[in-house]
Amino acid sequence: MQFLPSSLLPLLLTTVVTAQTTTSCNPTEKTCSANTALSSSTYTHDFTTGLDSTNFNITAGNVTATSSGALFTITKSGDAPTIRSKWYIFFGRVSFILRASPGTGIVSSAILLSDDLDEIDWEFLGGEPDVAQTNYFGKGESTTTNREVDVAAAGSQTTSHNYTVVWKKDQTQWLVDGVVLRTLTADEATAGGNSYPQTPMDVRIGIWAGGDSGNSEGTIEWAGGETDYSQGPFEMVLEKVEVVNDNPGTSYTYGDTSGDADSIKVDGSGTTSSVSASLGTKTSTASGSAGISTDVTTATATTTGSMWWTASAEALISKSQSGGSRISASYKWYGVALGTLLALL
Ligand SMILES: *[C@@H]1O[C@H](CO)[C@@H](O)[C@H](O)[C@H]1NC(C)=O
Ligand SMILES: *[C@@H]1O[C@H](CO)[C@@H](O)[C@H](O)[C@H]1NC(C)=O
Ligand SMILES: *[C@@H]1O[C@H](CO)[C@@H](O)[C@H](O)[C@H]1NC(C)=O
Repeated sequence: MQFLPSSLLPLLLTTVVTAQTTTSCNPTEKTCSANTALSSSTYTHDFTTGLDSTNFNITAGNVTATSSGALFTITKSGDAPTIRSKWYIFFGRVSFILRASPGTGIVSSAILLSDDLDEIDWEFLGGEPDVAQTNYFGKGESTTTNREVDVAAAGSQTTSHNYTVVWKKDQTQWLVDGVVLRTLTADEATAGGNSYPQTPMDVRIGIWAGGDSGNSEGTIEWAGGETDYSQGPFEMVLEKVEVVNDNPGTSYTYGDTSGDADSIKVDGSGTTSSVSASLGTKTSTASGSAGISTDVTTATATTTGSMWWTASAEALISKSQSGGSRISASYKWYGVALGTLLALL
């Protein structure tokens, strides 16, 4: 807030609100249909055995199954391959075993996002191979710039590492290879003027080119420079996703518009077992290549969704730039824009 001109605020709010009202239902504004819950307390998928179309949709771009894992590939302007879980979890742990993409201007991301825009992020810039960005949002609120923290992630582009979020009601921790590198308490978030992420979230993983030459200079500078597609293809590899869901059930319902954890009703919580997760894993292995070609076709059709996002991010950053603020401040806004994009997919 201290870095950004107040004239920017209406623009940001407009952007977020537009995304909510046109593409998804925000339970803090109106009654929405329930979120499908991960019915088991654990879910694990090893993507080296194939994509898991039972549990994940490819929502944009080129995601292919290889023996190294799911490959998210950018070959040209506009590519932004993304997958999204078909279920939500309500507190727990999510581990992403992945190798981030190299490439100037390329952004790799693995996030949790709720319908009311609570968000917990891992983000990696192609130009910063030894850094991971941790970030969060509560209710999409973006009037502070005190949420993003860089942590050490040596060799993030050379080999897979375990990037974990342990999300509890009272605190969230970010771990790299089992080492806690950041702890955010709910009290600290609130004291810092932010709302703490506390509503059911789904899981989204993808890459995009912030350095696309069609983007504004501000966006390109933020992303670390202009992307040269002749240096590609740029690839992120997802080896494995492990999930612990603290509140398995059939669905989650927002009991009111408060967006508070206490208002969330866990439906069908008596029906839990780990059957559905292991079934999902086996199914995907068995259905392997057939599932993949279908997914890739579906994904190609939604590329325009990501272009909308690029334009939006560009507007935000160039506006803040012309207002005289620094890129380093405006780039903290990225998470909101990303969440908005992903909400569209
Ligand atoms: C998708 O990525 C793979 C792996 O890099 C590549 O071989 C293939 O040509 C790409 N397909 C499209 C449609 O871009
Ligand atoms: C996943 O894809 C299917 C088929 O296109 C669609 O019906 C469903 O709504 C999608 N779910 C999510 C969470 O994107
Ligand atoms: C990833 O890290 C988490 C947190 O330390 C740990 O519980 C989990 O077992 C790890 N998973 C893998 C595959 O290393």
